[in-house]
Amino acid sequence: MRLVLLGAPGSGKGTQATRLKEHLQVPHISTGDLLRAEVAAGSKLGLEAKEVMARGELVSDAILLGMLEDRFSRDDTRNGFILDGYPRNLAQADALDALLGRLKAPFDFAVQLECPTEMLVERIAGRAKAEGRADDSPDAVRKRLEVYTASTAPVIDYYRQHGQLTVVDGVGSLDEVFTRILEAIAPVKEVG
Ligand code: AP5
Ligand code: MG
Repeated sequence: MRLVLLGAPGSGKGTQATRLKEHLQVPHISTGDLLRAEVAAGSKLGLEAKEVMARGELVSDAILLGMLEDRFSRDDTRNGFILDGYPRNLAQADALDALLGRLKAPFDFAVQLECPTEMLVERIAGRAKAEGRADDSPDAVRKRLEVYTASTAPVIDYYRQHGQLTVVDGVGSLDEVFTRILEAIAPVKEVG
């Protein structure tokens, strides 16, 4: 299964990807997690990304594509993947198409987790208290939501227009949302 998981900050991509990874036995590739690991390691790339991420803005397309190509060069992606946090703008959507085209591994589903904005803000505020992620401050969250509307929503429209989008209601318990995703990505049954 090759899955692209889309949705606003706080919509539950990471939470559900962790469960899907176990269920589908494919790697969870989160560009946010990859970037946070670079920041934690203090690498050159991490130093470049740190401030941009803390402001809630997007890290450059070139850095992301390099990271993604590197990750997809590993064997464990051959049987599938759950991509979380990429693509975030139309240029990244094109880059992803090109990369998966070269690998002859187009994605099976682009699933968007849908949640009202008040709920996104509430969930992230809860995590800010519990974990203190650097970009969960009110200002950064506001910026992340703006960036989502300006840059990432067009990707969702693009996939919708091309019949590649599956929308899943992200409101409910973790189990409820998980079940909905599994139903949405279940292979279409033959009639008769
Ligand atoms: P990234 O790490 O991708 O963050 P994000 O998209 O802003 O979203 P989150 O990780 O906050 O939310 P999520 O949807 O994963 O929700 P979660 O499951 O955690 O990106 C961070 C930054 O890195 C970007 O701002 C950018 O700077 C950079 N970056 C990353 N990718 C990039 C790219 N492609 N290009 C450029 N820059 C990039 O859930 C949130 C909270 O809600 C948790 O506390 C969870 O426990 C809770 N929760 C989840 N589901 C439920 C539920 N059903 N009910 C109640 N609570 C729930
Ligand atoms: Mg996440």
